[in-house]
Amino acid sequence: MRAVDIIQKKRDNETLTTEEITFLLDNYLKGNVPDYQMSSFLMAVYFNGMAKDELKVFTERMMHSGDIIKFEKITKFLVDKHSTGGVGDKTTIALAPIFACFDIGTAKLSGRGLGHTGGTIDKFESIKGFTFPETRDELVNLVNKTGIGIMGYSDKIVPLDKKLYSLRDVTATVPSIPLIASSIMSKKLAVYADGIILDVKVGSGAFMKNLEDAETLADTMIDIGDSFDRKVVAILTDMDQPLGFAVGNSLEIIEAIETLKGNGPKDFTELVKTLAAIALIIKGDETDIEVAKTKVDEVIHSGKALSHLKDFIRNCGGEEKIVDDYSYLKIAEKTYDFKAEKDGYVSKIEAESVGKAAMVLGAGRATKADIIDHSVGVVLEKKIGSKVKAGDVLAKIYYSKEETLNSSIEKLKEAFEISNEHLAERDVIIKIKK
Ligand code: URA
Repeated sequence: MRAVDIIQKKRDNETLTTEEITFLLDNYLKGNVPDYQMSSFLMAVYFNGMAKDELKVFTERMMHSGDIIKFEKITKFLVDKHSTGGVGDKTTIALAPIFACFDIGTAKLSGRGLGHTGGTIDKFESIKGFTFPETRDELVNLVNKTGIGIMGYSDKIVPLDKKLYSLRDVTATVPSIPLIASSIMSKKLAVYADGIILDVKVGSGAFMKNLEDAETLADTMIDIGDSFDRKVVAILTDMDQPLGFAVGNSLEIIEAIETLKGNGPKDFTELVKTLAAIALIIKGDETDIEVAKTKVDEVIHSGKALSHLKDFIRNCGGEEKIVDDYSYLKIAEKTYDFKAEKDGYVSKIEAESVGKAAMVLGAGRATKADIIDHSVGVVLEKKIGSKVKAGDVLAKIYYSKEETLNSSIEKLKEAFEISNEHLAERDVIIKIKK
């Protein structure tokens, strides 16, 4: 078998056999197929896509390129909520303690990665003393004890994805639905969970800029899940503006805690409640989403979810008092009020620009070597649809280095648009797909 013949077949939109896909991927991982041939193959996939059966084999080979984690010693029903990534996405911090109230475990590998703000791991590390498990056994113990376990991603999980993603990044082949779907699903399938919920973000701040593409991605990932007999539910959610108000590590921790106290932003609270309700349905505890949401409301309002978060923080060596006293968190002392220049209604808050406004302050990493400043970020005071007067504060910038402030202001200027037309508030939940 030769790589060139496989590339030619894909170029001519013919269906590849299991043997051909296996040959190509396994040999690429071993270094026998060079990057230039794999680049050419990826471009052919970009244009011609992959049939269902091809995608199953492709995902299976990716998944088996490294370790498979089963968590046999975990006694809880495991649900893995995965987000395709957005600005202000602090969902896991509020969701995992709610799951714990219903004996639903979270056993998650989470990346630090590059981005506008840190990943979930970085956000928790805003808490003094907080450390994550370093071994799989420590993770299992933590899940059995607190219901929640999160640790850093290992290079041993789906190493082929890492290699392929680096190549896609420099060959303009990232935005291919079959390649994105197999990349995400191979990692989800390699780390066992009883149920998988995929939060597919749609909008200016997301990978998927329009609803049609997001639906196709969601359907493709559900199909892959089905072909591996795994329960997958996808939820399409709005990312045309940041999620909630806070963008930045410590600031997002506060917002997640406030949400567990019942004082969260409307959109973020709705998302967290809906995701938790879906998990209850997957587990089989409930059948009706509205009834399930009232159960979730109860554990928020009783303080039960918050006490699970405290328990998790304590068991990770973190200062649990932060839950009641935010002065235990590092928050930048310098602030700047970004104000509206005219009267009208907020018609646009481009999520990506708000993310960049936080990133230039030091909230995220542009390169792997960058060190995150947990204390900085942006807190919106208005959302799309808000009525504003000239001089009203649209967002507060928390900064620690004087020289970063101007670029952050510039990014916020790009993000906000005020018009005379009153746009309705946006719903965060667009669609649930099973
Ligand atoms: N996230 C992933 O894990 N892979 C992709 O290809 C895109 C987003």
